[in-house]
Amino acid sequence: MVKIAPSILSADFCNLERDIQKVSSADWLHVDVMDGMFVPNISIGVPVVQSIRKHTGMFLDTHLMVEKPGRYVDAFAKAGADLLSIHLEADMPPALHAALDRMEDLGVQKGIVLRPITAAEAVIPYLQRGIDLVLVMTVEPGFGGQSFMADQLPKIAAIRTYIDRYCPACHLEVDGGVNTQTAGSCVAAGADVLVAGSAVYGAADIPAAIAALRG
Ligand code: DX5
Ligand code: ZN
Repeated sequence: MVKIAPSILSADFCNLERDIQKVSSADWLHVDVMDGMFVPNISIGVPVVQSIRKHTGMFLDTHLMVEKPGRYVDAFAKAGADLLSIHLEADMPPALHAALDRMEDLGVQKGIVLRPITAAEAVIPYLQRGIDLVLVMTVEPGFGGQSFMADQLPKIAAIRTYIDRYCPACHLEVDGGVNTQTAGSCVAAGADVLVAGSAVYGAADIPAAIAALRG
């Protein structure tokens, strides 16, 4: 069964508790952390994750769009994130592996993320070491509400074959422009977790939108 992870980037930050409750029929909560350096936008940080943790038992799928993410692993783990995903473009491979090691020590699930420019093959050494999630961006990270990049579908399919070969329990998540028109092709390409911001929070009936995305 496909998991749906609504992105609170599309929520009303003044009514975050209410807006998290609105998506309680979903599987995970996707938390977009942006530092204004790795991406041009600034969103939320450690204290907000800490507050969210106090108000929900949902699995916090925390997407770190930050330079040198190893600097923040301890803080987000302590704040209550269940999974941290770090971008392959955000630091050199030894530093990224060290950040993943630290997640393991702290007992948080570990994920890697690819910008649209990054090739599928880049995930192989990480799958070989063992990770919990690969996240494929189907928009340039930084903003919600952009159009789905269909040219990323072959990459999703290629990563599915690598996951099946090297790390079969690893989740394959897609983020950016996912809606009822694009969800099916992501799942057909091998995704098992779908992030959706505007398609969920922009819907008149949010539980129905979540159910429709599950297909
Ligand atoms: C973009 C974020 C996404 C974003 C998705 O940088 O990583 O999680 O919230 O929003 P939609 O679903 O509107 O494209
Ligand atoms: Zn995201």
